[in-house]
Amino acid sequence: MLEFYTAGESHGKGLAGIIQGIPAGLAVSGEDINGELKRRQKGYGRGGRMKIESDRAEIISGIRWGRTIGSPISIFIQNRDWKNWEKAMSSGAEDEGSIQPVTRPRPGHADLPGALKFAQPDIRNILERSSARETAMRVALGAVAKKFLLEFGISIGSYVFQIGKAKMKQPSGRISAEQLLDLLKRAEESQVSCPDEETADRMKEQIDRAMEAGDSMGGRFTVFAVGAPVGLGSHTQWDRRLDGRLAQALMSVQAIKAVEAGGGIELASKPGSQVMDEIFYGKDAGFFRKTDRMGGIEGGMTNGMPILLHAAMKPIPTLRKPLASVDMKTKEPFEAAYERSDVCAVPAAAVVAEAMTALIIAGAFLEKFGGDSITETGRNYDGYKQYLRGF
Ligand SMILES: Cc1cc2nc3c(=O)[nH]c(=O)nc-3n(C[C@H](O)[C@H](O)[C@H](O)COP(=O)(O)O)c2cc1C
Repeated sequence: MLEFYTAGESHGKGLAGIIQGIPAGLAVSGEDINGELKRRQKGYGRGGRMKIESDRAEIISGIRWGRTIGSPISIFIQNRDWKNWEKAMSSGAEDEGSIQPVTRPRPGHADLPGALKFAQPDIRNILERSSARETAMRVALGAVAKKFLLEFGISIGSYVFQIGKAKMKQPSGRISAEQLLDLLKRAEESQVSCPDEETADRMKEQIDRAMEAGDSMGGRFTVFAVGAPVGLGSHTQWDRRLDGRLAQALMSVQAIKAVEAGGGIELASKPGSQVMDEIFYGKDAGFFRKTDRMGGIEGGMTNGMPILLHAAMKPIPTLRKPLASVDMKTKEPFEAAYERSDVCAVPAAAVVAEAMTALIIAGAFLEKFGGDSITETGRNYDGYKQYLRGF
C-alpha cells in the first residue's frame, strides 16, 4: 500500500514529507525531485515568494546510493524565509507574543472556518498550514511516484488550456499518447504552461489586466497519464473507483473547484450514441478504442486509453483590491488588506495536480502488482501483460 503525508507550516522551518510503500531498487536522485520543484515555481503572475524560495529537497531516509531500499522515504524542504520567522513561528513557549495575532479573516481562505473549528483566536495558527506552500511537498513526493511509474512506461503531464477568458481550443477526437506528450513539451516552453502560443499571449494579457486592477485570475488545466495498463482501480467498492480517487486527489489541491474526466461536463448535453468509446478488436492491437471521451476510465478502472482529467482553479483569494470581512476580535467590518500574493497560480497548480495524479496511480499500480522490490513488481506486471496478450 502506498501512503504519504506532508507536514509543515508556510513560514515554519520547512516542510516534511513521508512516502511509504515504494519498492526497493528504484533509482531516485535529489535532482529528480528538485526538477519537479522547479516546475512548480515557474509561471507568469506568481508573487514575490517565488523569488525568495528556491526549493531544494533534502532526502532524509529511504534512499541509499541513489536507490530506494524499501523503507519510508522522508524528505525535508527548508523554508528560505525561516530566519525572518524564527520567533514568530517558534515552537518554544518563551517566544509567545513575539508577533501580533492575525484576527482579520480573508474571504476565500481557511481563515474563518479554521479559526472557529479549532478554537484559535490567532488566524496564523490556521493560515500557516492551509497555505498552498504545502503543495511543494506534494510535488516532491509526487516526483518519487512519477519515477516509479516511469519505470513501467507510465508518464504524467499537464498543460493549461484556460486562464480567465483566454481559452485554447482543446484537441478533439482521439488524442494519442504522442500528441499529449507533445502538448506537454510545448507547455513546458510557455510561461503560462499553455501549448498554444497565441492563447498563451492572451492569457498573459488577462493576468496583466488582473494585476493592474488589483485583482486575480483562475483557470483550467488538463492532467494526463499515458501508458497505464487496463485494470487499475476497481468497480467493486465506491472508494476503490479510480476516477473517484483521482477526483478527490485533484480537488484536494488548494483552490481547485471542479474536476472532470474525459469529455466531462460536456458529455451531459450529448446523446449517448455520441459519447461512448466504442470497442474494436485487432489481431495485433487487441481490444482498442478510437475515441477517449471517458478519459481512460470505465467503471472506476483504467481501460488502457490515456487518462484525461481537467480541473478548474478559482482566482487567488488574496487581492490588492479590498474585500469585505469582519475582524474576529472586535466584530467590526474592515476591508481585507493585501499581503504578498500570487495573481495567478494556474500553471503551478497543474504541476501539483500532476503530483497528486502520480501518487494515486502509483498507489493503484502497487495494489494490483505489489512487490517489495522493483524487480518483483516488474515480474508481476510482465505476467499480467502476457496474460492480457493471450486473452
Ligand atoms: C500553487 C498555488 C499557489 C497559490 N498561491 C496563493 C497565493 O499566493 N495567495 C492566495 O491567497 N492564495 C493562493 N492559493 C490559493 C489558496 O491556497 C486557497 O484558495 C486557499 O487555501 C483556500 O482553499 P480553497 O480555495 O481550496 O477553499 C494558491 C493555490 C495554489 C494551488
